[in-house]
This record gives sequence, structure tokens and C-alpha cells, in this order.
Amino acid sequence: MKIAILGYGVVGSGVAEVLKVNSASVAKKAGESIDVKYVSDLRDFPDEPYSFVKNFDTIESDPEVKVVVEAIGGETIAYDFAKRAILAGKHVVTPNKALIAAHGAELFALAEKHGVHLLFEASVGGGIPLIRPYCGALLTDEIQEIAGILNGTSNYILTQMHENGTSYADALKSAQKLGYAEADPTADVGGFDACRKLAILLSLATGKTVDYTNIETEGIENISAEDFAFAAENGYTLKHLATAKLTADGVQAIVAPFLVKIGHPLSTVRDVYNALWAKAKTTGNVMFYGSGAGKLPTASAVVSNLVDIAQNAHAPHTWTAESVRILPASGYEMKKMLRVYEG
Ligand code: HSE
Repeated sequence: MKIAILGYGVVGSGVAEVLKVNSASVAKKAGESIDVKYVSDLRDFPDEPYSFVKNFDTIESDPEVKVVVEAIGGETIAYDFAKRAILAGKHVVTPNKALIAAHGAELFALAEKHGVHLLFEASVGGGIPLIRPYCGALLTDEIQEIAGILNGTSNYILTQMHENGTSYADALKSAQKLGYAEADPTADVGGFDACRKLAILLSLATGKTVDYTNIETEGIENISAEDFAFAAENGYTLKHLATAKLTADGVQAIVAPFLVKIGHPLSTVRDVYNALWAKAKTTGNVMFYGSGAGKLPTASAVVSNLVDIAQNAHAPHTWTAESVRILPASGYEMKKMLRVYEG
């Protein structure tokens, strides 16, 4: 199966690497080898052994290319190329949560019309096999509540600040160096990345579009060492959570730093790890845990979708354009921590 990779950044180059390192096991599971026919990037990589093209037309018009891996990120160019790939009859696999949260319903409908798939396992939870089992649970059950640590960068920064006394700025720099943070880390530390991932999980749970712009979102920029000290004195730690309750009237959703009781499973999720706790009507409580960001974990999740396509073995995980009501946050009942400084 021939593929093209758009964007040779952290994830795009990771996909090529995973396909190379795991070529034998991938071919065995897929039933055929999966080969990178083209890589598209504006930059030149003279030492890399792939055919680099700068023009998407070459990929679009090559009937041998069965799947396009969109690893550019963002919602503009990525959206145009994903759409063009689908219109050209190619499957699309993407880790791009911004694209899926903003244009999921439209692209799923287009993919269905053109007899191809748009798969996005890596978009939430990085390397955690999450979308498949989460949707699997939904086949027989109803998700009632979810709470997750969905941004690896924020969790890494908070862990470094708490456990090693690292400053916020140094911890962020190190997260960027390790390939956890987005090119512009505002989405990570501002909570928007986690918010989009929450919207994807809620859209999957409801089968309808959850507009992430309506979700109350706060990041970790204002967390300080004093907050950790105060939390610890009272038996808590601080975690950046994306939480939601699904009610008959709509969805109650909030993304923000939370005090989490020490001993609660989410309190033990450290570094770049992600976790998602979910409560379903008959299944009860389940929790997913694993590497939430980084080159090879995320790329492995992308490659798992390539194998799905080769095997023709994926369930359609999609939602429609009908919108879900997000209940206004002013109506939520919750305890809040208020920090007051002496002036
Ligand atoms: N920047 C993201 C994170 C990458 O830190 O979680 C994985 O989606």
C-alpha cells in the first residue's frame, strides 16, 4: 500500500520512522507492505531517503497513492489538502485534533460520499489506543461522564514544576525540545488543545458536533509553586483536566486546572502521560492511560490507522453536523479555589 505523508515535522517524520522500524510487523498485520511513496514539505531534507515533493498535485493525481497522512497541523492548509485527498478518492489519516474538532462532520460526510475513510486515532491521547476502545464501549453503552488529562505538554510542565521545582518557562522550553508541544504552544498551555480533544470525545459520544468554542477553557499559565504547596497541605495535587457530564438537557463541559485528591487515579498521571476516565451507564468506570504526546507514540497511533485501512478493518467513528447544546458554565455547581494575594 503506497502512502504520502504531508508535513515532515515531529509526527510526519515519526510515521516514516515507525514504518521503517516496524516494517516486518506492519506488513504482517496489514497483509502487505506499507511504503512511503512521497513526502511533502516546504523544507528540503536532502539526507532523507524519500521522494520529497512540494506540490500536492503530484500526490493528488497519482492513482498509486491510496492513503494521505496529513501531519501538517492546523485548520487551514491541512483542511484544503484533506479535502482534496478525499475528493481524489484517497483515505486520510491524521493526528490533527484541530482539523477534526473544527471540520470533522463535513469531512466525514465527504469521505463517505467518496467511499474512503478519515481516521484519527492519534488525535486524542497520543499513543494511547483510545478512539477504538472508547467507541467500542459506546456500541453497547452510554457515556455519562468523562474526565481526562488530555494535553501531554501541560501535564509535563505541571509535573516538572511540582516535583523538581522547575520554572514554568524552563519546563515549557524542555517540552518543546522533547517534541511534546505544538509549534505554537499557546494551544497547549492555554487549554485549547485539550478542549478540542474533549470536543472530539464528546462528539463521538453523542454522534453530533460539539462546538469546542463553546467550552469554558482555562490553561495552566497562572499556576505557581504556591498553588502546589497549598494543594499538598490539603491533600490535593493540581492537574489540568478536561471534564464533561452528559445530561438530558445538554453537555456540561469545562477545561481547567483542578485540585485532584492525592490517591485519585488521575493524581498519579505524571509527565507527558495522558489518561481518560470515563463512566458509562452499564459498564461503570473505565480508564485509559499511556504516552500522550511525542514523536513515536503519536506516529504509532497513525500507523495503526494505516494498518486498519490495509485490513479494511475499521469501524466508522464519526458524527453528524447536528450540534449538541453546551450548557453555560455559569450554571455548573462546583467548588472553586480562590487564591488571594496580600497587596
Ligand atoms: N501538543 C500535544 C500535547 C501533542 O502536548 O498533548 C499531542 O496531541
